[in-house]
Order: sequence, then structure tokens, then C-alpha cells
Amino acid sequence: MTIIAHPSGAFRGIYSIKLIVAPSKGNLSARAAKIVADKINNTENPHIGFATGSTPIDTYNMLVSMHRSGQVNGESLSGLTGWNLDEYVLDRSVAAKHPEFKAQTYRHFMGEHLYNALKIPEDRRRIPDWSTSDPAFECASYEATLRERPTKTAVQILGLGPTELKDGLHIGGHIGFNESGTSFSSLTHVVELSQRTRIANSRLFMTDEEKAFLGLEIDEDPYEKFEGNLFTTNQKEFFIGNILWRVPKFAMTMGIGTILDTSDSLLIMAYGEGKSQAVYNALLRPDERIPASALFHHPDSTVIVDQEAAALLRFKEPGEYEIKPTPLRI
Ligand code: GLP
Repeated sequence: MTIIAHPSGAFRGIYSIKLIVAPSKGNLSARAAKIVADKINNTENPHIGFATGSTPIDTYNMLVSMHRSGQVNGESLSGLTGWNLDEYVLDRSVAAKHPEFKAQTYRHFMGEHLYNALKIPEDRRRIPDWSTSDPAFECASYEATLRERPTKTAVQILGLGPTELKDGLHIGGHIGFNESGTSFSSLTHVVELSQRTRIANSRLFMTDEEKAFLGLEIDEDPYEKFEGNLFTTNQKEFFIGNILWRVPKFAMTMGIGTILDTSDSLLIMAYGEGKSQAVYNALLRPDERIPASALFHHPDSTVIVDQEAAALLRFKEPGEYEIKPTPLRI
């Protein structure tokens, strides 16, 4: 371990990251489910950190099946508390006009994809409140609750946000809603979402008919079509005028410091070619422009990807690798 002086004044070690390249998306989800199930089974009253987004959905389905077939210990499960990374601040005017989009809150997502099936009681489903009238206070309370616990989160699952090209550099790769440039010492905070993130997440705030009108696949990130001028003028106007305003502008997220300090182990999951640049950048070296690269500051972190997400790495073959930060050559 090397000790470095962090720009914020905090001292954080630099560690290796364990990289698992899985032969398929199904295998990736199954391995992640096994890691989480093992943590649940081997921990008394486990605290588990969950992420939202499309990436962990199959893993959650597998955890539910494992629970049904008795592979997840019922006693451990009855003491489980789930902690989510982030939540939208849903605009009241949008919520009033489109009550159906409340189903896009992460609280709803967690109930539907995991908690209801595992019968996790409401008071153990920890997540910032999307309907709060004081998001900053909500964040401070969430941070305090996380830090007051006698035990840390056994494993925190993390998804990976996409990258974007800015001034010739690929930046991004968010964890939670921590956008590029967020301090690695940050605590739970309110964040104004970047245009890039809002475009990616707009797919969750559209009906299937609207997606069809825009020529989008069901789970397609509209970014390439939007930025690459592949929308017709009509489609672009429709996207900006009718869709983008609905996507929340603000969210509450655990900070990167929160994630690093309050978890015993971290697990980033990513699949598909669309994440390959973010995976590559995250595994270079700690760099605040790439939030996911903060994992180099945690002593027990794993990145699990399929071969498509590993496409830009030196290690593309299925297997397990130890990734040390690449020194910056100037
Ligand atoms: C969202 C969430 C993240 C999530 C990420 C990736 O913005 N705030 O927590 O990990 O995007 O989402 P997906 O898995 O759908 O690609």
C-alpha cells in the first residue's frame, strides 16, 4: 500500500482493484449474485449496499431465485438492511403531471426488483426520500445514519455511468450520481445532474410509443442519436421539448468519500460495449474526473465486467486480474 496526500487534505491509501472478466452477461450477473449472497449468509444482521439502473436487475432476479431455492439464509435475510446509493429529487410539477413516473423513483425500483420478493420490511429499505422538501437536510441525515451504524456495509454494489468526450478527454464513469469532478472526499449531497446523465436516464421517462417515435430500442441510451445528429429535426424537437424536461434535474447521492468510508467492500458491475470506455478509464489511475477510479482508494474493491465492457482493456479474456494504477507519464 502507498500513502498519498489527497488534494482534500485527507490521506487515502492506493490499492489494487480486482478485475473479473466474465464470459457472458449471464455469468457476470450470477457471479455478482453469489458475491452478495455469500456476504448475506456470512454476516449477522448484514448491511448491503444496492444500486439501481439496468445493470444489477438480473443479479437481483438471481438473488430472489436463490432465496426461493434456499441458497440465501432466511435468518440472515430477516436481519438485512439495504442501503441505496442515490435517489432522484422528483420535480413536483412533473410528479403532478405524470404520476406514473413516480415508478421511476429508486425506492419503487428496489421494491419491484428485490425488496418485495425478499420481504424486506420498509424500515430496512434505506434510501433518501425523493419527496423531501429539504434535500440538503435529507442528505445530511442519510450521511449521519450511515456513519452511526455499528457495522459498515458488507458489500456495496455500484453501477457505472457512461463517459462523454470533453476537450478531447473521455470523462465520466459516475458511481451513484457523483458526476465527473466530484471530490473523492465528498459526503452525501444534492447534485445537479449533467446533461449527459439526464439524456442517458431519459429512456426511463418515456413511453414505448415515444421510444418508437424516436427510433430508440427499448433500453437504448439516446445520447449517440442525440449528439450524433441522427434524430430528424422533428425527433430532436420532440426529445428536447417533451421528454428531457421530465427527467429529474437534481438527485441526492452518497458522496465518494461516503462510499469509500462506509463499506467493507465495493463491487462495480458493468456490461456492454457502451461501458467499455468508462471501464478503461476507471482502471487507469485515481482521477477525480473519473468518479469510478476512486475504487483505487479502497482496500477491497472488485470490478466485474463482461467481455464487451472489457473491450478496451489489456485483459479481455475471461479470468481474474489484479489491476494496479498505471503511473502517469508526462
Ligand atoms: C444511474 C444511477 C447509477 C447507475 C448508473 C448506470 O444514473 N444513478 O447509480 O449505476 O446510472 O445505469 P445503468 O445500469 O442503467 O447503465
